[in-house]
Amino acid sequence: MKKYLVIGNPIKHSLSPELHNHWIKENGIDATYSKKKMSENELENLISEVRQHVINGVNVTVPFKNTLIPHMDKLTDEAKRTQSVNTIYQKDNEIIGHNTDIEGFENSIKKINFNFNNKKIFILGAGGVVTSIVYASMKMGSSEILISNRTKEKAQKIKNTFNNIKLVNWGEIPDFDVIINATSLGLNQNDEINLDFTNVGQNKLFYDVIYNPSETKFLKVGKKLGNKCVNGKLMFIYQAFSAFKLWHGVEPLINEETMKLFD
Ligand code: ATR
Repeated sequence: MKKYLVIGNPIKHSLSPELHNHWIKENGIDATYSKKKMSENELENLISEVRQHVINGVNVTVPFKNTLIPHMDKLTDEAKRTQSVNTIYQKDNEIIGHNTDIEGFENSIKKINFNFNNKKIFILGAGGVVTSIVYASMKMGSSEILISNRTKEKAQKIKNTFNNIKLVNWGEIPDFDVIINATSLGLNQNDEINLDFTNVGQNKLFYDVIYNPSETKFLKVGKKLGNKCVNGKLMFIYQAFSAFKLWHGVEPLINEETMKLFD
């Protein structure tokens, strides 16, 4: 039986096992997928287990998407460009670090029929998933990408890896077409982003990477002001879709049943 894992710290809230095990069962694959909380000093051992085929594939979440890179034999172009690895597999005896968050974000935008072409994208946060969102937004033809993070140095670091990014001071709201919450604010029901959105106007896209809770205060405010709102559920499902396809060579189904797994 093949063995797959998602690692992170914390990892309690990850719904990846529910989704992957649903698809594993649906496709009659002989495999299991579980979650494991890890500390940085356990990463080396994990990778040697992948090398020995004890573990066949790994998904990576906060805070290891970047720290795992030195443990990889090779990075795909996507992982290299974003300096972020969320999916690990082995090919020709090499451990390969890949990034399916980019496709996850891109496919979620396609699915809701929103067009990023010539749009101004304003990203809140500078954590592990932001480089993937920046790269996907660039691929989709956005005209401008602005990033605001409480700790400016972290946003500056992202700016250094891409051209054409503007930094915005935390607390300021520039003109935008799409605003993306990529901070962890909202994971707790009572979390509030203390930014004043009252003057942003209507018909924008408010996108929250968080999918649990399904409607953060950020999305509630966006909706109340008359904007299109979407949470991170589709991005989560599509990043998993791409990892599943890579590992098992099968495209899993995304349907009502899949969506309901997380309601
Ligand atoms: P990591 O930063 O370890 O990659 P993450 O969950 O991917 O973790 O990112 C957390 C993001 O939420 C960061 O952008 C963080 O801002 P800082 O870089 O300043 O820490 C942001 N964040 C978390 N709590 C916040 C708060 N109370 N106010 C504003 N931003 C916050």
